[in-house]
Amino acid sequence: MKGYFIVIEGLEGAGKSTAIKIVSSILQEQGIINLIFIREPGSTPLAEKLRILIKQGIDGEYFNNKAELLMLYAARVQLTENIIKPALSRGDWVIGDRYDLSSQAYQGGGRGLNINLIRTIRNLVLGNFTPDLTFYLDIPPKIGLQRIFVRGKLDRFEKESLSFFERTRNQYLAIANTDSKIVIIDATQSISKITLSIKTTLHNWLSDKFLL
Ligand code: TYD
Repeated sequence: MKGYFIVIEGLEGAGKSTAIKIVSSILQEQGIINLIFIREPGSTPLAEKLRILIKQGIDGEYFNNKAELLMLYAARVQLTENIIKPALSRGDWVIGDRYDLSSQAYQGGGRGLNINLIRTIRNLVLGNFTPDLTFYLDIPPKIGLQRIFVRGKLDRFEKESLSFFERTRNQYLAIANTDSKIVIIDATQSISKITLSIKTTLHNWLSDKFLL
């Protein structure tokens, strides 16, 4: 039996790591224990090298937004073809910390790149491969950023302005509102309410898939 690909998305400080733990424990309770965890950009040796470049940049060289986009897609192709697709074919389930929606939101919204350019590249290199289910943890950037500023050294993205993250959030919401495979979770709620929202969605989704 083929596996499924579930992705957690959201701005910095939205609580993705906690949501990943919630999703995996719900799946495990249902007897789904063959889980593979990935993060983007990264999770292959080449993609992890690109991650460092993307997150840190190169001192003294302007990082072109389109170059950033292409590096993200290079990392995503490596991960998709070398890890995700083989895992799904084996029957493993893949839990993603970010995937393609991040590029549409950060590069399309935050950086202001044309969404049609992004989707054209996406379609050319990934075809119609998409996650089966995405949880988008929605949080006002002011709250999310307050949570991460205490964590230490900031990367290129974390140093961006509040308006960059406002644009990224608006793009996330605009896309999520038109895609039935993306579920919006209010990440300002208490952990117990977030857990309940994820649990309800996941149970309904599993029931539809497996006629539980
Ligand atoms: P990471 O440390 O994983 O951030 P977080 O803990 O918030 O997930 O760094 C990933 C950064 O890369 C994050 O700021 C978002 C950004 N990013 C993009 O801009 N576009 C993308 O397509 C992806 C996958 C990530």
